[in-house]
Amino acid sequence: MSATVLENPLREGMRLERTAEPCCVVIFGASGDLAKRKLIPALFRLAQERLVPAEFAILGAARTPMETDEFRTKMREAVAEFSADKEVDPQVWDSFAEKLYYDTLDIGAPEDYKKITSLLEEIDKNHGTQGNRLFYLSTAPTLYAEAVKQLGDAGLTKSKGWVRVVIEKPFGRDLESARALNQEIHKYLDESQIYRIDHYLGKETVQNLLVFRFANGIFEPLWNRQYVDHVQVTNAETVGVEGRGGYYEQAGVVRDMIQNHVFQVLSLIAMEPPASLGAEAVRDEKIKAMHAARAFTPERVRAECVRGQYGAGSINGQPVPGYREEQDVAKDSTTETFAALTMYFDNWRWSGVPFFIRSGKRLTKRVTEIAIQFRDAPVHLFGAEMMEQVTPNQLVIRIQPDEGITLRFAAKVPGQVTRVRDVNMDFRYGSSFGVQIPEAYERLLLDCMLGDQTLYARTDMTERGWELVMPILDEWARTKGEVQFPNYEAGTWGPKASDVMIERAGRRWRRP
Ligand code: BG6
Repeated sequence: MSATVLENPLREGMRLERTAEPCCVVIFGASGDLAKRKLIPALFRLAQERLVPAEFAILGAARTPMETDEFRTKMREAVAEFSADKEVDPQVWDSFAEKLYYDTLDIGAPEDYKKITSLLEEIDKNHGTQGNRLFYLSTAPTLYAEAVKQLGDAGLTKSKGWVRVVIEKPFGRDLESARALNQEIHKYLDESQIYRIDHYLGKETVQNLLVFRFANGIFEPLWNRQYVDHVQVTNAETVGVEGRGGYYEQAGVVRDMIQNHVFQVLSLIAMEPPASLGAEAVRDEKIKAMHAARAFTPERVRAECVRGQYGAGSINGQPVPGYREEQDVAKDSTTETFAALTMYFDNWRWSGVPFFIRSGKRLTKRVTEIAIQFRDAPVHLFGAEMMEQVTPNQLVIRIQPDEGITLRFAAKVPGQVTRVRDVNMDFRYGSSFGVQIPEAYERLLLDCMLGDQTLYARTDMTERGWELVMPILDEWARTKGEVQFPNYEAGTWGPKASDVMIERAGRRWRRP
């Protein structure tokens, strides 16, 4: 039997032709860290790879006074420091630099938007950018709504070309503020103009989840409660709060990582096959899966969720301070830097299959992976003793680092006696493709310039993420005196309670 081939699968979501249309990218908050570390290096690489057209320009805008020349010099240094390419081609840089501009902007000052409007008209004239505009909000999150309002009032949300607005995370700090922000921006922008960024979706390996599941015939039939015992999602970092203590105190790992990045990845594992690769078809399936996620009641939070905060310890042999000793962190802070949750999707595919999720800072190792643990063989023909040497089949998808996929299965140890042991079948991006994996921001910026929202979060998804975590955050706030922080040493796998949580469910965490 041959496969049904969709008429034109390249129509949406998966383009052969990926060169962006003429446009001007306007970065609000251009003097900040994100522009320097990620945005400008990503745009430069796209230019270097000729994925943006000649009719292209970038306007940096922020409160810091700066001349365009100074901005160009700073961005040249940023590209040299943060771009994955060690060498910056001077010719490509020179033509890129000619398209870079800077102007001061106070987000709340209407007259500054008038200035930007005339600048953009000039840029359209000089660079042929045809009125197509991508506004990238990389300002303080408290300014997102104001920026959109001001853009709207200044008439900048409309143009003779297209106007798209990229909104950085965090999108709200709870359900109420996320809803309010959505309502506010919808007054000025149509959903098709709004690009809520989640850089995890731009990671090559996260995108590969769709290909792995839906371009192969052998995995999908196993991808359900009949064959899967449980799923583990690990998102471990060795870094601490990296000088962002002020922000992190207000956030914690559930807001910072789980509600957005981890849930995005989770929805790609749990979703049903989409009808096409179009943005709406994919996002419909993702939200459908998240709607089936079981709500957290206070009882479930107590029994099936764990929080932690790191104390001093050592990472790679180097001593590191505890969270409460970090800059801008309260000495008696109750912010969680680790969380482990047990989730269930109450639908036909996943009913009864636990999804164990953990995310934390200052853990043993930097690793983000998804492990699908299959059910044990129904009969142990080789005897119980022998089978103790092996573990049930596991499929591990490594998102980062050391990107790849490993399938673990039992094999006979060579020799005259029958002995059984676990072995791995391994796919590694590095050795299989031998190319540099593009940065998430490159893919996402290019998608936005192409008008493809597949890898961006839709209104319903951001709100659903908050809806799911709110009972956890509320319960933890209510009982904040009940746990003794710090409760894990930096450089370990988190608090003991996280092991207890999974062991109570009869499973064990992997030690990646
Ligand atoms: C950011 C978080 O969104 O993601 C940081 O705010 C975190 O706290 C970072 O360190 C992790 O991203 P990555 O791509 O290094 O896994």
